[in-house]
Amino acid sequence: MATPPISGRAPAAAAGTRRVSSAYDTHAAVVTDMLGTTVHRDDPDRAVIEQWADGVSGRILDIGSGTGRWTGHLAGLGHEVVGVDPSEKFVEIARRAHPGVPFRTAAVHDLAESHERWAGFLAWYSLIHLDADDLRTALSVLHDRLEEGGSVLLSYFSGPRSEPFHHPVAPAYRWSAAAIAEALSDAGFRVLDHHRGNSAEHAAITAIRTHPGDVLVQGRPAPRED
Ligand SMILES: C[S@@+](CC[C@H](N)C(=O)[O-])C[C@H]1O[C@@H](n2cnc3c(N)ncnc32)[C@H](O)[C@@H]1O
Repeated sequence: MATPPISGRAPAAAAGTRRVSSAYDTHAAVVTDMLGTTVHRDDPDRAVIEQWADGVSGRILDIGSGTGRWTGHLAGLGHEVVGVDPSEKFVEIARRAHPGVPFRTAAVHDLAESHERWAGFLAWYSLIHLDADDLRTALSVLHDRLEEGGSVLLSYFSGPRSEPFHHPVAPAYRWSAAAIAEALSDAGFRVLDHHRGNSAEHAAITAIRTHPGDVLVQGRPAPRED
């Protein structure tokens, strides 16, 4: 039996998410062969993800965890981490590959009515299927569910312009670096770092949840006196 979703679903995003997750269900075997269920020791993304996770003090939610490769990897490094994915097939694959690591069936918008708070959100190529409106909604949901000073690491397909593109599983969107930074800052995040991937179209961005008036010390909000 599937684990109940974290919460109810923002209706506007539900139909799109169903289409995307059913496409991932259909392509589960091919995507699993491509991504693997574990992280290769030479994976160039390790540096960015491990360094980000080391700076998170508390629970991490791996959103769109797929095969669970990063969830399992971070759990193996001692982080408290939960994986969540709207594709039932991927949740099954991840649970089989990483027994002992918790995985739930849900999409990013399902966090909207949850009362759980997280110290970090990893969204590794999992918000790529959201159009501009759904991405902005998702980022506000993440901002709302993040502890103050908590952080998000989000990877995306980057290009000179924001536009849809053909992705083998489901339609996806690429974003300009400026557009993704603006969407994060409109949602209330402060962008800390932009990382370039191993090819021009791969990028990742780190941002933290700040409170208006926060003073940052080494990229983190200083303790508040009120
Ligand atoms: C390209 S895979 C990446 C998987 C994993 N993050 C990794 O790097 O191995 C994209 C994943 O995002 C999930 N996904 C798609 N739409 C999502 C949504 N709205 N919320 C959360 N996850 C989503 C898919 O089911 C799929 O498992």
